[in-house]
Amino acid sequence: MKKRYLITAALPYANGPLHIGHLAGAYLPADIYARYLRLMGRDVVFVCGSDEHGAAITVKARKENTTPRAVVDQYHRMLEDTFEKIGISFDIYHRTSEPIHHETSQDFFRKLFDKQAFIEETTEQYYDETVGQFLADRYITGICPVCANPEAYGDQCEKCGSTLSPTDLKEPKSMLSGAVPVKRSTTHWFLRLDQHESWLREWINTGIVEGEQLHDPAAWKNHVIGQCNSWLDQGLQPRAMTRDLDWGVDVPPEIPGSEGKKLYVWLDAPIGYISATKQWALEHGKDWELYWKNEDTALIHFIGKDNIVFHCLIFPAILKAHGDYILPVNVPANQFLNLEGRKLSTSKNWAVWVHEYCEAFAGQEDVLRYNMIRKMPEQSDSEFTWKGFQETNNNELVNNLANFVNRVLVLTHKYYEGVVPEINPAQSFKSGWNIDKTGQYGDELLSINRKLVEMTVEIERFNFKEAMRTVMEISSAGNALLQFNEPWKTVKDAPETVKIVMNLALQYVAALAVAVRPFLPFSAERLRLMLNLPPWQDLGELSVALERLSNQQPLVQSSHLIGQPEHLFSRISDEVIEKQIEILKANEPVADAVPTNTKIAYKPMKETIQYDDFAKMDIRTGIILSAEKVEKSKKLLKLSVDLGFELRTILSGIAEHFTPEEVVGKQVIVLANLAPRTMMGTESQGMILMAEDASGKLCFVSPASGWPSGMGVQ
Ligand code: 2FM
Ligand code: ZN
Repeated sequence: MKKRYLITAALPYANGPLHIGHLAGAYLPADIYARYLRLMGRDVVFVCGSDEHGAAITVKARKENTTPRAVVDQYHRMLEDTFEKIGISFDIYHRTSEPIHHETSQDFFRKLFDKQAFIEETTEQYYDETVGQFLADRYITGICPVCANPEAYGDQCEKCGSTLSPTDLKEPKSMLSGAVPVKRSTTHWFLRLDQHESWLREWINTGIVEGEQLHDPAAWKNHVIGQCNSWLDQGLQPRAMTRDLDWGVDVPPEIPGSEGKKLYVWLDAPIGYISATKQWALEHGKDWELYWKNEDTALIHFIGKDNIVFHCLIFPAILKAHGDYILPVNVPANQFLNLEGRKLSTSKNWAVWVHEYCEAFAGQEDVLRYNMIRKMPEQSDSEFTWKGFQETNNNELVNNLANFVNRVLVLTHKYYEGVVPEINPAQSFKSGWNIDKTGQYGDELLSINRKLVEMTVEIERFNFKEAMRTVMEISSAGNALLQFNEPWKTVKDAPETVKIVMNLALQYVAALAVAVRPFLPFSAERLRLMLNLPPWQDLGELSVALERLSNQQPLVQSSHLIGQPEHLFSRISDEVIEKQIEILKANEPVADAVPTNTKIAYKPMKETIQYDDFAKMDIRTGIILSAEKVEKSKKLLKLSVDLGFELRTILSGIAEHFTPEEVVGKQVIVLANLAPRTMMGTESQGMILMAEDASGKLCFVSPASGWPSGMGVQ
């Protein structure tokens, strides 16, 4: 384990607000990780800031007939405010227009210049004669050579994520005037990326540099390594690190030929991580160099997939060429989040803007955070839908977490006037983890500990969805503990059993209060108040909880007086969701609308049956509590389905259509009296009803959101 951690989250361009794709891609995973490290008592600095240079800013300023300065000032403030509202816990949110950043970037350039990391070359570049400007990066648009997107930029295609050069574009057009550009010669400094190809290939694929193992490549995501290798396989070419622009960091003036030249934004932006760390260190009396130049530091970049090449090849080449800096130990990039079947798009206003969400759903910031975690595009693209948002809130946060917490706290007030009951640890009860077993107090604490450990393992592997699911299992087990011991029925006849059940239920709530902290920080604070725990310390509370539970010690002591219960989450109504869908649909790109004359192939009808045939079927509403893949089966998922009156294990042939994470929390319709059948060694006790379209795509048939489990369907 490293001594300290430097966590970076991609610097957002200060040319527009933050949308949910940004949040799910980089900021939320980085925040969860940083919060988790703090809770484990580790030395961590989490930096970010606004990326205020480059064509993204100047093109926006020109469009709005204002100055780049006015644009970055407006959006820097807005971004900073939005990050705070949604609970992203940066140690510093800096900006690249600050003098300290300009100095740091220029020093970097000087060092690379002195070490002859550049070659100076005069090349032909696109030039807009009507406005008298060279057109690099986002000043130029055209057809993407990879996916034929007609609106690809000179540095990148936002549709397929490819990194491009202006000369790669087909039918190039100036973003400034729309004119067809001409070629003109200009001189720039090019980083000798070709000289870095061989060590980069070895570093990416083996983690080894000059014989030293710097990271474990097995811990890197496949798609990250894959994208790097596909770049490396094409051969790295020298890349221009300067531009002919009037907004940005000046090339150091003492360098001959520097006049009118600025640093390439992708040179200065990642150096922004360093200048942010310097500023933070200045403000806190710390040594910034420990975080960037010491091999005991783990540097981790959180980014979206469109930034992979810059963080895994170009910036490492820059750091290595400089010579004094460490390399990242991981770059856990996420893929893209789509919105209601389309790619998120800032320019087409097809987005859920985080600041608008925070206004419309004030006090429900964690609901968005939770949904983003559940839908996090960790290994492949994923999708946000407003209906899905409502479902994860109503079925998981309300039905599982909030109801559990509320029941425990209300019953504690009702039975014990809010005081955690004294218990006899030998008292027997039904375990929340394995309902067939009689529980032991200490074992139950160990089970909670095991789940918390599982959560830490998943977080350390950057599997945040899985980590969140593990936390929710603690809540499900707490619910099962209450459900199967039914204290409300037995409190009079078996008061000693109820005391132990309630004491344990309170330990579950206390464990949840700590466990949700990296993910749902606002709810963690409310849970703390409801349990009347002392204010959170900044460091180490998760490691303390793990230690206590592993020693079979409770997290809240008998005779502790808890606070007042409140509803941690409340149901979101159909009207609220429909309103959001309406707002979004008002921006629906017309060209993408589904054609109305689509021909659908319907399956032929089956033969007519009598009512009695139908009436034999016992069909019930239910909810999927957990799901896992069945070993050696491509098709089957093993589901644990709550029918209200009992839990069923059901094997369902949906594994090629849904991941286990996607189905947990789904409300379903179950054929409950289908004869049990054993498949792959497991007995399946029912069948989940699904709709299937002509192409074989499956969709769940669900009761209305929040409809109770176990209800008959006829
Ligand atoms: O893609 C972007 O939004 C860039 N502004 C990310 C920069 S990340 C880092 F290098 F600063
Ligand atoms: Zn493309």
